[in-house]
Amino acid sequence: MRFDVLTIFPAFFEGFLTHGIVRRAYERRLVEIGIHNLRDWTYDRHQIVDDRPYGGESGMVLKPEPIFRAVEALTHGRTNSAIVLLTPQGRLFDQRTAQRLSQQAQVVLICGRYEGVDERVAEHLATEEISIGDYVLSGGEPAAMVIMDAVIRLLPEVLGNPTSAEKESFQAGRLDYPVYTRPAVYRGHAVPPELLTGNHAEIDLWRRRAALRKTLRYRPDLLTDQSRLDETDRRLLAELLGTLPPTTRPLTCHSSS
Ligand code: 6GU
Repeated sequence: MRFDVLTIFPAFFEGFLTHGIVRRAYERRLVEIGIHNLRDWTYDRHQIVDDRPYGGESGMVLKPEPIFRAVEALTHGRTNSAIVLLTPQGRLFDQRTAQRLSQQAQVVLICGRYEGVDERVAEHLATEEISIGDYVLSGGEPAAMVIMDAVIRLLPEVLGNPTSAEKESFQAGRLDYPVYTRPAVYRGHAVPPELLTGNHAEIDLWRRRAALRKTLRYRPDLLTDQSRLDETDRRLLAELLGTLPPTTRPLTCHSSS
């Protein structure tokens, strides 16, 4: 697949493209990425991309013409293109959206800037508007990197272990479990003894319970739809919520709460 990013700050993306998984995927030709300066599609001497909003109010608005020209040039002769406008007003980005975008032949990411983008871009050019969270960034560039990272790691052959992306998406019903490495005791803090037993059934139960405890604490909203949990997780969650007597060791063994 191919990404085309439209931005007034192409240099933002230099570090992103030259490190880690994204760099390796790019070098192995598993993904194509074009970073394009919006000013290249202006015709005036000063390469102006913004203008004052109709109706007054503060701030500047990205003009429609350079964006339309750029997107039309970048998608010319292509099919199966998603044209994404990145703004805080869009639909919230999540793993399912990442999966859907990973099926597209081309994804064009338009980075919003200043106080907004002329609404005709959203209405008549973009196929969708995406936001990465309920907070305001000064531009869409960090969001473009977030989306590309999340999508690229889903592409076939990008991750060393081809099943790990799959595994994560199945776990979307709760947060992932905590992990530890050596030393077994650090500054007096011991690794949970269950993980040192070599007993895979016990390790699995500990991990599930720890994952659910963390989810209850930080993302209880994820647990309202329990159909996304398997039978064991549902039973462990019921235990954690105190609606069932514990079937294994009491939680107080490894919980401070
Ligand atoms: Cl995509 N853009 C901006 N400017 N702010 C955001 C965002 C996007 N997503 C969350 N906040």
